[in-house]
Amino acid sequence: MEKIIVKKSPALRGSVRISGSKNAALPILAASILGTEDIILEDVPDLKDIEIMIEVLESLGSKVEKLEKNKVLVNSKNLTSYETNYELMNKMRASFLVMGPLLARMGKTVNSLPGGCNIGSRPIDLHLKGFEALGAKVVCYDDGVSASCNELVGNVVYLDFPSVGATENIIMAATLAKGETVIENAAKEPEIVDLANFLRKMGAIVTGAGTSTIVIKGVKELKGCTHQIIPDRIEAGTFMVSAAISGGDVSVENIIPSHMKPITAKLIEAGNKVIESDDKIRVIGNPEGIPINIKTLPYPGFPTDMQAQFLALMTSLKGKSTVIETVFENRFMHVAQLTKMGADIEVNDRKALVTGGRPLRGEEVIATDLRAGAALILAGLVAEGKTTISDIYHIDRGYEDIEEKFRGLGANIERIDE
Ligand code: EPZ
Repeated sequence: MEKIIVKKSPALRGSVRISGSKNAALPILAASILGTEDIILEDVPDLKDIEIMIEVLESLGSKVEKLEKNKVLVNSKNLTSYETNYELMNKMRASFLVMGPLLARMGKTVNSLPGGCNIGSRPIDLHLKGFEALGAKVVCYDDGVSASCNELVGNVVYLDFPSVGATENIIMAATLAKGETVIENAAKEPEIVDLANFLRKMGAIVTGAGTSTIVIKGVKELKGCTHQIIPDRIEAGTFMVSAAISGGDVSVENIIPSHMKPITAKLIEAGNKVIESDDKIRVIGNPEGIPINIKTLPYPGFPTDMQAQFLALMTSLKGKSTVIETVFENRFMHVAQLTKMGADIEVNDRKALVTGGRPLRGEEVIATDLRAGAALILAGLVAEGKTTISDIYHIDRGYEDIEEKFRGLGANIERIDE
């Protein structure tokens, strides 16, 4: 089984190029089903989750070709199925993002229910509410859900919660619906803006992405296009935290600074120096950091996908820091692992209280989800001795070449297969 070994490392120094965003590439790959001509995607991160999404597309009849490591050609002219198979859906919940495009393209779709995962039950009620609002007949059965319609008709959909996936699925379904669809209380994440920009290149009429109200005017068909995926703001944030926790000096390159605002603000509050330029951010870490309080919220609030990484940072900040996790109901699985390394963290429902300043010690720990795994690497950089991380398949789902990138900054990190 593969493991990652991290030993106490010197303050990280240098620059790292950030890969394309996993959470933009996944919906955009799903959206390629909507078109019948060649689509070329650049800066697609080379990740396990991307491989699974490509398998899903191929299982539906799309032709997918990896032109280069981060360049993919997709042609969905001849779809042969509207059903996603169970094991693929179970491997990755985001496979559910093909439901909206299949419904729009084929008039029918059958999907096994996306598995929950460690961080929460991950319901899909808002996705289904959107499909029904567009006129689809939705049938739920024990382990799956189908949706069918003769014709999707635009409508107004209010999302009880600004769900990223539901917003994406409804936008994609609405692009080929008859008439106008308005999504109210839509998610505003940058990945949704990237999806909308991609769809517009295909000929879709989408306005308001990035705000709470998104308007889609249905068109007859969508064409091919070329699109470059935006950089991954969560990977960038992870490396920015590595400078803070190690007291180093790290520049993250190929990023969009405006996407990093909540992360930058909190790092400055914690006493780090942050220097922004047009497509990079430099973080000069402050070993005598200042305790901070974080509350995760939908974008533009502090991202839940950065919560674990900041919780690791808080263990090094002398004093009491707090985290309130409002997005997922069970996203503190990494606390037990950090506690095993000597961290002083108390969790009470959705709130964690971290008393930082005591050095961590290297231990054998387990990655419980993708961002928790990243947090353990960060903790391992400063813990005394050796930290051995297992279940690193979680990490490989969302971070491209992670140990090479950290080693390039001077980290003492390696992958072993025992
Ligand atoms: C996306 O997941 C991301 N994944 C997640 O990133 C991210 O944590 C999450 O958005 C929040 O930002 C991808 O983009 C592939 P949601 P998604 O629907 O779309 C509730 C990572 O680390 N909800 O915004 O599944 C749900 O229970 C991953 O890269 C409903 O109640 O997130 C949760 O509490 C982890 N009903 C909240 O919304 C629904 O129908 C946020 O979920 C849908 C969601």
